[in-house]
Amino acid sequence: MNSIATEDRAKERAEELRRLLHYHNRRYFVLDDPEISDAEYDRLMQELIELEKKFPGLATPDSPTNRVGSAPLDKFDTISHQVPMLSLDKGFDESDILAFDQRVRRVLKTDEPVYYTVEPKVDGVAVALVYQKGLLVSGATRGDGYTGELITSNIKTIGTVPLVLQQRDGDGIQTPEFLEVRGEVYMNIHDFRVLNQMRMGQGLPLFANPRNASAGSLRQLDSSITAQRPLKMFVYGAGRVDTLNVNSHARAIEILKMLGFPTNPHIDAKIPVEGVIDYFQRIDEMRSSLDYEIDGIVIKVDRYDYHELLGNTSRSPRWAVAVKFKAVQEQTQVNDIIVQVGRTGAITPVAVLEPVSIGGVTVSRATLHNEDELRKKDIRIKDRVLVQRAGDVIPEVVKVISSSRDGTQKVFEMPEQCPACGQRVVRFKDEAATRCINAACPAQLKGNILHFASKGALDIDGLGKKLVDQLVEKKQVKSIADIFRLDVKTLENLERMGRKSAENLVDAIHNSKKIPFSKFLYGLGIRHVGVHAAKLLARHFENIDALAAARKEDIERIEQIGPIMAEAVRAFFDTPENIKTIAEIKQQGLVTIPEKTEKEGSGGLDGISFVLTGTLASMTRKEAAEKIEAAGGNVTGSVSGNTGYVVAGTSPGGKMEQARKKGIPIIDENQFLQLLKDATNGREVP
Ligand code: IVH
Repeated sequence: MNSIATEDRAKERAEELRRLLHYHNRRYFVLDDPEISDAEYDRLMQELIELEKKFPGLATPDSPTNRVGSAPLDKFDTISHQVPMLSLDKGFDESDILAFDQRVRRVLKTDEPVYYTVEPKVDGVAVALVYQKGLLVSGATRGDGYTGELITSNIKTIGTVPLVLQQRDGDGIQTPEFLEVRGEVYMNIHDFRVLNQMRMGQGLPLFANPRNASAGSLRQLDSSITAQRPLKMFVYGAGRVDTLNVNSHARAIEILKMLGFPTNPHIDAKIPVEGVIDYFQRIDEMRSSLDYEIDGIVIKVDRYDYHELLGNTSRSPRWAVAVKFKAVQEQTQVNDIIVQVGRTGAITPVAVLEPVSIGGVTVSRATLHNEDELRKKDIRIKDRVLVQRAGDVIPEVVKVISSSRDGTQKVFEMPEQCPACGQRVVRFKDEAATRCINAACPAQLKGNILHFASKGALDIDGLGKKLVDQLVEKKQVKSIADIFRLDVKTLENLERMGRKSAENLVDAIHNSKKIPFSKFLYGLGIRHVGVHAAKLLARHFENIDALAAARKEDIERIEQIGPIMAEAVRAFFDTPENIKTIAEIKQQGLVTIPEKTEKEGSGGLDGISFVLTGTLASMTRKEAAEKIEAAGGNVTGSVSGNTGYVVAGTSPGGKMEQARKKGIPIIDENQFLQLLKDATNGREVP
């Protein structure tokens, strides 16, 4: 083939790739609703980068290879980044790490080893936070790299983000006049699951993964919604590094940590390229044990003078590279759709998949949640689908690859009978779930017992699925209260049980009889009441009797508890069998420990402990204490590990020295007033 024809073909393909990448950029960055996996996106981008490299005449100024994101949504004010927020070049395996090292040494013209600082690449949302005189003044998303969305009040709701920087004069580290830090806002996998559980209960659409949940939460116009989302942040660098007055990235991270920023605990500093390869393998192996999602590692040349020599391309710095792990989303085929009966009687459709390796784990089933989700995503038997696995989250089908339909696909209908007990199933008008409402359905009882014994509830070690199946089938357990009646004799005669394990289990059951109220409450398996909601309820009601006696309105008044949950709680206690079961459980000796209560109507200083020292100009110490308490905080007389801030007025006493030694942030009167203002969203505090 002659070279003109080849170039023509390349041009066509480049145009197609650009169109696709623009489209997927928008889905990912603006709509928080990606259609293809990160791995597929990377493949498209890599193909375009290579085409443009091979035929430089093809590159266009608006090519996605020059951009790092997508234009911001217009619902927020925008802010231009003083230093563009670039993207990272990507590699995919060990050979790319070696190639990066060679490139770096070639540009630096050195045969000496170059040292790198390496970090997990957390899969969240990039943000930039600006601090002036130690106070947080703005927070923004990356946007298109040059202009981001201003989301300051949302950023301020993130507990791990310092509103005021720690003063470190004692260590010779000065709080910079101006500091812009960059990092990743993310959500723990566990918190993400609880959030989705709550959303499912409230009939709200579910987030596809923790990253989408973080992005969606940060993009709320009402920051009180963001405040309810369990967001966290890791800081990984500064926008203008000169403001930190250091000459290496590792040192910058150390200083950021001392100033009070959350930094990732798995950063390795100043290691040669061989060490980087070990690190890549090590982090990949520990990936599934982390409680947050990472999609690779980031390798950064440690010395800042080298950063200057290496410089940037329009898209990314030449001193850093991201090396990605194998994808956590992959395509496969739906071989069949079956249903499972859960502990609430909910009948969940499940996709039986052509086994596919996702991030090193073989996945052969994925939840389809419920009939509506199934219809919305229009998943049919024999469809090709995109499946994802996030940490220990149950794999799920993200979407159908509709272009792969060939007419052989079959629509799935929900069954009319419960597969566990054969009774007719129902679907209530206002509910997404199809249910088996037979209270005696063995599938539900088994599920209830497993839930009651699970980690978040009574945490009875040894009461697993196989055992529960036998206990229910042999009718030795007919309700959760019966668990407490089990004795060694009954248990040791069951399959796979010996005397010792029977004794251990009886001990474990006995030891579970004194537990925090919230765990018991969670264990009862009341609809919509997950771990988080159980804690909220337990903080307001001292014990099960108080909750059982509460009116729906009393329950609904609790912050974050909506009418649907309040209704479900009421319905649970209005069911005579449940009251009977609870009475039996109590009779068997179960006692609950009341949860710590929280003041109602508190503000943004919830649970933060203050120590006041010295004289304040604008108010007395007593007035300051009242304002702190009104915003949900508390004031103590001495500095301890639990102290959040020390407020230092003029002529402060020894408390300031104690705080400095313990590394507790010390704030002056202006910073204190600012904090109060932020905590109350500008509301006047009495
Ligand atoms: S450094 C100019 N370090 O990865 C380089 N980025 O394409 C700035 N990310 O969304 C990025 N963990 O927010 C860096 N330890 C880390 C990171 C990290 C996650 C994200 C970053 C951006 C993407 C870069």
